[in-house]
Formats: sequence, C-alpha cells, structure tokens
Amino acid sequence: MQEFVYNNSLLMGESVPLKSVAEEFGTPVYVYSRRSVLDHCRNIEKAFDGHPHLSCFAVKANANRDLLRLIGEEGFGADVGSIGELTIALAADIHPSKITFSGVGKRDDEIVAGIRAGIYAFNVESTEEIRLLDTIAGQEGKKARILLRINFDIDAGGHAYVSTSMKHNKFGIPAGKALEVLRWTQGLPNIEIRGLHSHIGSQITKAETFQRAARAIISLVQDITAAGIPVRDIDFGGGFGVQYRGYVTGPGIPAEESEEVNLSAATLIRDVLPLLRETHCRLSIQPGRSVVAHAGVLLVKVLYRKETDDRLFVVVDGGMNDLLRPSLYDAYHQIVPAELHGRPFEKADVVGPLCESGDFLALDRQIPRVERGEYLAVMCTGAYGYVLSSNYNSRPRPAEVLIDGTKCSLIRKRETIEQLFEG
Ligand code: LLP
Repeated sequence: MQEFVYNNSLLMGESVPLKSVAEEFGTPVYVYSRRSVLDHCRNIEKAFDGHPHLSCFAVKANANRDLLRLIGEEGFGADVGSIGELTIALAADIHPSKITFSGVGKRDDEIVAGIRAGIYAFNVESTEEIRLLDTIAGQEGKKARILLRINFDIDAGGHAYVSTSMKHNKFGIPAGKALEVLRWTQGLPNIEIRGLHSHIGSQITKAETFQRAARAIISLVQDITAAGIPVRDIDFGGGFGVQYRGYVTGPGIPAEESEEVNLSAATLIRDVLPLLRETHCRLSIQPGRSVVAHAGVLLVKVLYRKETDDRLFVVVDGGMNDLLRPSLYDAYHQIVPAELHGRPFEKADVVGPLCESGDFLALDRQIPRVERGEYLAVMCTGAYGYVLSSNYNSRPRPAEVLIDGTKCSLIRKRETIEQLFEG
C-alpha cells in the first residue's frame, strides 16, 4: 500500500528514486505510483464482500486519463461533474453504463452529452433540473435515469468548503421534500427513477458520520417504498478520509502525530455495509480521494533559503498554482526531502514563488535542513492536486509521471509557455 518510502537515504516511488524522476522530468512534477492506485482500488472492492455494487471513481479528484484507465480496468466506473470529465472518462474506456453525472449546475449541453453517451444515471439536484432533463431526453428520444440527491442536513465535520449536506449548502433536495418531488417526477414521461443519492462531504474520518447518513437514507428509502415508489439504487456518498500527517516515517525526518493513522476506506465501508445491505438496493459509491491521494506526490526544487529576523523561508519552485490545497483549505501535506543527508531539523515556511503571501505549501513546519537545488516531496497529493492547478502568474501547469516498478512514463507533458498565450 505504502509505495513512497525511504530506501537508505533516498525517497523511492516503488523502485525508482524520486530524485532521479525530478532530474529527468524537471520540477514541479506530480509523480504517481501505479501499484498504489491498484492497491487502493482493490481494497475498496474487497470491502464490499460480494455485495452487488458499483464504485464510480470521482473524476474531480484526478482527471488524468492514464490513471483513469487503470482505475477503470479494476472494474470501477466514473462519477463525472462536467462534460470535460465525461469526455475524459469515455476516452479512458470507462463504459457509459458505469458513469454517473453529479453536480448542481449541469448545463443543457452537458445533459445532452450524458444522454447521448447513454450514461447510467444523472444524480439530480432540483426540480428545474429534472424538468429540463425530461425535456432533453424527450427531444433525444431517450429515457433518462435519475437518482435524487438528498440533503440530510448532516455536518460531516472538516473544512466548511467540503461539507456538502447541511441545510444551508446548495446541494440536494431536503429529505422532507423527497417524496413530493418523486411523486411529481413519476408524472414525467422521459424520466426513470432509479433511487437516491447522498454525498455529505469529503475527508470524513469518523464511522459514526457515515452511519448517521446511512440510517437517514435507509429510513427515507423505507418511507418512499411504503408510498409505492420503488427504490432500486442507493448511491451513498461522503468521501472516505485519508491520512495526511505523518504518512512517511523514518529516523531522518520529524515525527508527525496523526489522528488519521489506520484510517481506510475499506474499514469505513465495512462499518456501513451491514446497515445499507438491509435495503436490498444496489449500492454505488463515488470515492475520489481515497483511491488516489496516497498514490501521488508533488516534487519541487529548493530555489532559495531566505532568513529574516522572524523566520526561515524555504522558497521552492512549486506554489499555490501547482497545489492549491494548503492555501485554500489550510490543508496539511507532509513535506520530506527526496534525499536525506542526516542534517538537523529546522522550522521553516515552505513557500512558492508566487506574488502573494497565501502562496505556501507549509507554515511553521519542522523539516530536515535542505539546500538550494535539492528536492522536496509534498506527500499525499494524488487527489485534488493537479486538477486544482492553475496558470496563475502565467506559470505552466506541471508534468505528471507514472511509476510502474522500475519504469517511469510521462502521462502528461508539462504545459509550455506558448500554450499560455496561444489563441
Ligand atoms: N461525489 C461527489 C458528488 C462529490 O461532490 C465529491 C467531492 C466526491 C464524489 C468525491 O469525494 P472524495 O472521495 O474525494 O472525498 N477539493 C477538495 C475536495 C472537494 C470535494 C468535493 N466533492 C479538497 O482538496 O479537499
């Protein structure tokens, strides 16, 4: 499972020293481990213990086509949130019958594309959307399958930006309105109701949170079935949390306490499966982070050490345009050297080259002393890393490299300066 570990003094990705990846492909660069992706997929699948289900990888977490193809080959479908993600999923040979389309603001052309592709279902969020879906499906001479997204007003904890099922959030239909909306939907000629969907947030670390959501959805399924509307599918969401702190351990790097140790999607699934099984519905889930977060690192190069009266800044060549999570969510990513030299630890702000103080990868962080020209690995960045990158300050997006044993392949070229201004 853990594919980024030190071998003597070198941080490896599978059997390749990350230092050599940085030298060959340049920095900043996202590096993924194929074996890690596969292991995470397999552990999730095993946790279902034979119960009929579909795991749809949330493409928003990582939209690299080669990774998606790997994930698809493990039997996963895809949950897409835009026409772009739909197109990438299809290009990665994910069968349309395994694709769901989520999101509160699907455009008309996105609905047309989903219907034409023959995707499994739209996870719908409002009556206006259902009406539009019915109209477009009618025009296309097709029926659209839907799962109604329910807002259960559950606080998933964590950062407010990634909690999605509280009353004041834009997502879903309030549970108390579900029956009325489904009754109305039954009168629409081009819609087939398949079931219910919920997604309460991301980076959820507590089994109780999922159990609460499971109990809420089960009770609603019972009410709806009792009212004569069959519910065949439950798409049960809420993103399984992953360990960020203290992911890499070893004598040469500072220890980091983590409450998230031993957290795994598989255990969280096993905690809710007995509950959800009672409904006899087909289950689907939409994991993103838990499939790819641990499978990726961002490599950056130290440009300067800069000491002020107040602080030590380690200025690196990757910033908030490459990895936005620290700036946007105050997210914690462990940062370790690609090569250990047995140097003392020091406290530093690891900052990018961009024009604002919000441009940092870590603040006030203990790291082993590093010098100009050396490489640092920002750990657990396989999810919501590259996909949130931007061209801010007219910086090209980084390259992406996949390690498979002793082999490395470029799975996305670094953007060029020309691409930044070509019309
Ligand atoms: N399905 C839906 C409908 C979602 O909204 C999300 C995440 C997922 C699936 C995947 O959840 P996951 O397994 O990855 O937790 N950019 C933020 C995370 C935003 C998540 C939004 N929705 C971050 O970097 O933490």
